[in-house]
Amino acid sequence: MSIASRPNARHAFALLACCVALLASACGKRATPEQESAGKAAFATIQGVFQHPRCANCHIPGDSPLVTDLKVPHPMGVVRGPEGHGALGLPCASCHGEKNSPASYGPHAPPGAPHWGLPPPDQKMAWIGLSPKAVCEMIKDEKRNGGRDLAALLKHVSEDKLVLWGWSPGGTRAPVPVPHEQLVAAFKTWVDAGGPCPDA
Ligand code: HEC
Ligand code: HEC
Repeated sequence: MSIASRPNARHAFALLACCVALLASACGKRATPEQESAGKAAFATIQGVFQHPRCANCHIPGDSPLVTDLKVPHPMGVVRGPEGHGALGLPCASCHGEKNSPASYGPHAPPGAPHWGLPPPDQKMAWIGLSPKAVCEMIKDEKRNGGRDLAALLKHVSEDKLVLWGWSPGGTRAPVPVPHEQLVAAFKTWVDAGGPCPDA
C-alpha cells in the first residue's frame, strides 16, 4: 500500500508546486503604470488600423460586406450566410480566390486571400464605427472574439492571411497606411501591458 501510494503523493506535491509557481508568475505579470500608459497609447495605433476600411469592411454588424473606402454595400446582394462564407447558392469563393485577381482583370476585379469570408453570424466581431474603448473591450472579450486570449490575438494579427491582405489589397484599393510591423509592435506593447483599454 505505502509503496503504491508514495509515487502518487510525490506526483500530487509536484502538481501543487506547479500551481503555486503558475499563480506566482500570473501575479508577477501585473503591468507597471508606465506599461499601462504605453499600452493605452499603443491602442490608438491598433484602433486606427482595425477601423480602416481594409479591415472594417468585413467587421460589420450587418450581413452584407462593404466595399471601397466609401464603405458601400457589396454589389450583387452578397450576404454573410450561415457561416460567414456567403449564402449557400453564392459562396464568397465563387468570386474570391486565394489570391488577388491579376491586374489585367481591371481595378474592380474581386480581391482574394485564403479563407475569404465574414465572421460567423453568432460572433460578428463587428467593430466598425465603435468608440476606441468599445473596440478594445470587444476584441479582447473571448465570448465575442472566437475564444482568443491576448497571445492568440497577437498571433492572429501577426499572421492571419485576411489581416495580411490589408497591406496588399489588389486593384487600386489603398492599403492600410500604418506598416504591418508597426501594428505588430503596437499590439505587443498593448498585450504586454495586459490589454488596457482607453477611457473613452
Ligand atoms: C475578407 C474579410 C476580412 C478582412 C478584410 C479582415 N478580416 Fe479580420 N476576420 C475575418 C474573419 C472571417 C474572422 C474570423 C476568423 C476566425 O474566427 O477564425 C476575423 C477575425 C479577426 C480577428 C479575431 C477576432 C477578434 O474579434 O479579435 C481579428 C483581431 C481581426 N480579424 C483583425 C483584422 C484586421 C486588423 C484586419 C485588417 C488588417 C482584418 N481583420 C481584415 C474577416 C476579415
Ligand atoms: C458574385 C461575385 C462575388 C461574390 C459571391 C462575393 N464577392 Fe466580394 N467582391 C466581388 C467584387 C467584383 C469585388 C470588387 C468590388 C470593387 O472593387 O468595386 C468584391 C470586393 C469585396 C470586398 C472589398 C474590400 C474593400 O475593402 O474594398 C470585400 C470585403 C468582399 N468583397 C467581401 C466578400 C465576402 C465576405 C463575400 C462572401 C460573403 C463576397 N465578397 C462574395 C465579387 C464577389
